[in-house]
Amino acid sequence: MQSNDIMEKSAAYCVQYIKQVYLKERVLKVLLFNGSPHEKGCTYTALKEISKTLKKEGIESKIYQIGMKPLTPCMGCFACSKIGRCAIKNDGVNDFIEYARDFDGFIFGTPVHYGSACGGITVFLDRVFFTAFMSGRGDVFRHKPASAIASGRRSGTTTTLDQINKYFSISEMPIISGRYWNMVHGQTPDQVKKDLEGMQNMRILAKNMAWHLKCEQIAREAGIEPPQEEEVVFTNFIR
Ligand SMILES: Cc1cc2nc3c(=O)[nH]c(=O)nc-3n(C[C@H](O)[C@H](O)[C@H](O)COP(=O)(O)O)c2cc1C
Repeated sequence: MQSNDIMEKSAAYCVQYIKQVYLKERVLKVLLFNGSPHEKGCTYTALKEISKTLKKEGIESKIYQIGMKPLTPCMGCFACSKIGRCAIKNDGVNDFIEYARDFDGFIFGTPVHYGSACGGITVFLDRVFFTAFMSGRGDVFRHKPASAIASGRRSGTTTTLDQINKYFSISEMPIISGRYWNMVHGQTPDQVKKDLEGMQNMRILAKNMAWHLKCEQIAREAGIEPPQEEEVVFTNFIR
């Protein structure tokens, strides 16, 4: 590294330190969701690369592991609109919604299973997004930037990304992009690390997320607030 680069990086670090410690500026935080049953597998390896890059950009991140707990799919009972939480208890969904409130941005990672996002993340996010919206807590996600990343051995990655991106586009969440597909390839973490292009894309995505969050923070400080929520209209295509 050139000495100019080192000086620039040290100065940026000092400015960030002063802002956070002395001016008590809020540290921006991104939640990295690992939807894989493998705690330290391929999806995790990609998320770790994102986490390291976010740190260099002065953004905190936490990896949330969906783990191996059995998950019941959404029953479509609509209880969440009455009781303010998902009626299915104790599998992490209700806790996750409140945990997510504290984060400024999200990156949801999933392995590809049969050309789609894996079963666990599908069940989990169906219930998280439905419950948050139906219980009047859409603000946990609304206007917060999000991205999806997929880890596949070979194919089905783009359909997987389409699937996860839909949670964001129906929740008023700006979708942050990487370059030439937010995906890594491999069956083991070592194979993923050898997917140099995929790993580079994870870093590009992280930098774009960091830049978006910083711009948003400055916009808010300047008094530019996100649009007010409109009252919900349900027509069910009946005129
Ligand atoms: C049930 C199952 C189905 C899979 N289906 C696909 C698939 O359709 N396409 C693909 O590229 N990889 C597929 N894979 C491989 C995984 O997506 C791939 O190895 C992934 O990187 C594993 O990530 P993880 O270690 O985070 O779980 C499948 C794996 C499993 C267990």
